[in-house]
Amino acid sequence: MSEKVATITDAAGQAVQYHPGLEGVIAGPSTICSIDGHKGVLTYRGILIEDMAEHSTFEETAFFLLHGHLPTRPELADFENRLKDHRELPQTVIDLIKTFPPTANPMDILRTAVSALGLFDDNPDDDSLAKNTARAEHLIAAFPGIVGVLQRLRQGQPPVPPRMDLSHAEHFLHQVSGKEPDANAAKIFDVCLILHADHSFNASTFTARVCISSLTDMYSAITAATGSLKGPLHGGANTEVMTNFLEIGEVEKVEEWVMARLKNKGKVMGFGHRVYKTYDPRARILSRYSQRLAEITGNLKWFKMSKEMERVMEREVSSRGIYPNVDFFSASVYYYIGVAPDLFTPIFAVSRIAGWTAHVLEQLRDNRLFRPEAAYTGPLQVKYVPMEKR
Ligand code: CMC
Repeated sequence: MSEKVATITDAAGQAVQYHPGLEGVIAGPSTICSIDGHKGVLTYRGILIEDMAEHSTFEETAFFLLHGHLPTRPELADFENRLKDHRELPQTVIDLIKTFPPTANPMDILRTAVSALGLFDDNPDDDSLAKNTARAEHLIAAFPGIVGVLQRLRQGQPPVPPRMDLSHAEHFLHQVSGKEPDANAAKIFDVCLILHADHSFNASTFTARVCISSLTDMYSAITAATGSLKGPLHGGANTEVMTNFLEIGEVEKVEEWVMARLKNKGKVMGFGHRVYKTYDPRARILSRYSQRLAEITGNLKWFKMSKEMERVMEREVSSRGIYPNVDFFSASVYYYIGVAPDLFTPIFAVSRIAGWTAHVLEQLRDNRLFRPEAAYTGPLQVKYVPMEKR
């Protein structure tokens, strides 16, 4: 049972209050993203996510998050060109990925590749805002290529050289498939990238901020964030959602599966959120795209399974504030687009890198080391026992 405040007795016999999982704790100010979890309202720097999804592109959104204002036409063109200039990965990083086991988890490969990119920084001692902003842009540019390379290599195919005429969303689809990206799929994928780009102090973003607060480097912070995103309670949930659909297999079996899971006190992935106690606005948008893709492809199965799971969960747990989150409908959307389920979480990272780096820059602008305390509940006054007497 989650509680905002818990009271425990520490080792000294004092009653101590703490916030499990830091629920409800405001860990600092931010101007990047706002969430009203009761009304289901999300904004990027004050602009409704619905407006961003309808009018923006991932490149514009990333610029907005990083630089703090909507770009003018020339600013956006320059930014897009800078991203394109950094699409190409260092050959050494590609060669390094070639040495990884083909069965490795893509998030582990991504995490290791980000860390390796740090070794190729041309001036690691420069910690100026300008240099860190350039690093942020390089990382945003590099993520699709890393995922593309790992996907191609594990399929026994050579990596695809990046094309400079493609948008960021098209570039990703081209990198993983080697095929000309479909215009519909690329447009929908671009919206997915916009929707996942930031979400305030979520676990991976907070990880990045805690990490950079020691004044370590950008690559360390993003490597740590990538590791955090992998977990099934966070970004890993979208892969789990699709794995569950594939395991269930038929719309008619969804209800029985959900009921069995709830009876065993198991979690149904893609539902629930620490902040939203109502419908996640991103899930609402993605639900429409899942339906659209189902109609375009003529394969209604994954959309129907999603709606059926939503129906049963609404009946069973919505009274407890548990609703679909962003990971729920993104699963069927990515599957319809033709992406392998274990690439869903790396896709999340391809988008969230924009938010992570924006938060790292924001943290650095007014940094104070994160250093909370623990309530010690272990034994006191314990005598050291020599090895031979243990
Ligand atoms: N299915 C069934 N029960 C749930 C679910 C779920 N998806 N989510 C929460 N609950 C129940 C939970 O069992 C607990 O019940 P009880 O009070 O009887 O012990 C209660 O609701 C509170 O759950 P909690 O895990 O303590 O609450 P939290 O604020 O820590 O949960 C969460 C947030 C996202 C970790 C949780 O809802 C969850 O595990 N969901 C499934 C994983 C998932 O979809 N994660 C993606 C989150 S959104 C995108 C992202 O951040 O990546």
